[in-house]
Amino acid sequence: MEKNNYPLTRRRLRTDTYMRELTAGVKLSHKNFIQPLFAEEGLSNPRSIAGLGSVQVDTTETLLRTIGFHLQSGISKFLLFPVPAKKYGNEFDFSFATRMVKAIRNRFGADVWLSVDLCLCSYTTHGHCGLLNEDHSALLNSPTVELLSRYAAQLAAAGADCIAPSDMTDGRVGAIRITLDALGFENVSIMSYAAKFSSQFYGPFRDACQSSPNTTGLRNRKSYQLSPFNPGDAIATALRDEQEGADILMVKPAALYTDIIAKLKESTLKPLAAYHVSGEYAAIEALAEKGLVKREAAHVEVWAALGRAGADIIISYASGQAKKWIDRIEY
Ligand code: PBG
Repeated sequence: MEKNNYPLTRRRLRTDTYMRELTAGVKLSHKNFIQPLFAEEGLSNPRSIAGLGSVQVDTTETLLRTIGFHLQSGISKFLLFPVPAKKYGNEFDFSFATRMVKAIRNRFGADVWLSVDLCLCSYTTHGHCGLLNEDHSALLNSPTVELLSRYAAQLAAAGADCIAPSDMTDGRVGAIRITLDALGFENVSIMSYAAKFSSQFYGPFRDACQSSPNTTGLRNRKSYQLSPFNPGDAIATALRDEQEGADILMVKPAALYTDIIAKLKESTLKPLAAYHVSGEYAAIEALAEKGLVKREAAHVEVWAALGRAGADIIISYASGQAKKWIDRIEY
């Protein structure tokens, strides 16, 4: 037989849409998407968030309408960020958040799955995720964990399905689990911000939640959020959350940290959530606005990357579009 100088494998898997569709290894479904929600106390009209397109900070009233829209587009899982009007030094009042949770539960009952972000950064006068010491040079771990546990209990009592601690203090997942169980909330789950990096890409979010650090002491969150330069610490920290009882482990930001998602996937059987954060989202929106990418296809391409890396759940500001966009992916 004459020697064949050509490769025996060819681009047959790419020949046409049928073949590309049939052999797509990554399967996306809107059922695995969570939509973030913002609600601000005392706001009289919804306000837009710089860089985030149609995503808005809702008033107490418009929040329910926003959820209604999402339900109509097939999205039933939410992550709520409550923004209280008053900022505190030490005595905290979580009643706005619990009011919002109750309102959502009263209106939508079991039609929605509601997780609530658990953090103090939009509560504190200094914008940090926990209590600080006197000269604001350090975050106080244990008092923060204790406060967060109390907050978690109130959210669970109000009807939250899931608590999502995003503060990055040590031991908070275990403390929250113990508190919830002691109060009979065994079925309330914990989605921990397990590998949460200190990132530039939270900019638009901090604007929305009034949660930028603003003290002459600790100027950033580097002493409690993970270093982008230390992947080992990220994996160890995430696995510690698993041991403390986290049900879902989240990696955040998402698209910049697919290596962490992939590594974590090999180390745990827990479901992984990837949070495509505000700055990552805004980057695509900005490119699309300039006509440099196709908005829909660009978001879907990011979702495919997250799926390839091993994410089971995607938190995206475009979750509301997920059903429509996934349905009409051009393979
Ligand atoms: C609160 C929190 C942040 C985000 C989610 N929860 C900001 C931060 O840690 O500074 C970011 C979400 C986003 O950018 O989309 N700690």
